[in-house]
Amino acid sequence: MKNILITGGAGFIGSRLALRLLEEGYAVTVLDNLLSQIHGKNPENDCPLYNSIAGKVNFINGDVAKRQEL
Ligand SMILES: NC(=O)c1ccc[n+]([C@@H]2O[C@H](COP(=O)([O-])OP(=O)(O)OC[C@H]3O[C@@H](n4cnc5c(N)ncnc54)[C@H](O)[C@@H]3O)[C@@H](O)[C@H]2O)c1
Repeated sequence: MKNILITGGAGFIGSRLALRLLEEGYAVTVLDNLLSQIHGKNPENDCPLYNSIAGKVNFINGDVAKRQEL
């Protein structure tokens, strides 16, 4: 099985890509800082994009611009 990392993968494009790659049998990790402009204040409750991948991918809440989190 191949591993894939998608940065910004909870967004519009990344979440669709993540679901497609899961269907294809990839192990998907998403690194996303869940910007409130996109995901609201409570992504777990409010955001269909985040909820479409939650529990399916290995999700890391982090900022791609912060070396330690990346
Ligand atoms: N039709 C619709 O309902 C709809 C909705 C949203 C977007 N769009 C379109 O989709 C395109 C954009 O999609 P996209 O997926 O590129 O953008 P997006 O804004 O949907 O997703 C970007 C993701 O990156 C994350 N992110 C931002 N900065 C980050 C950082 N520093 N570290 C980690 N994660 C970070 C955000 O939290 C978000 O989840 C545009 O053309 C837009 O018009 C359409």
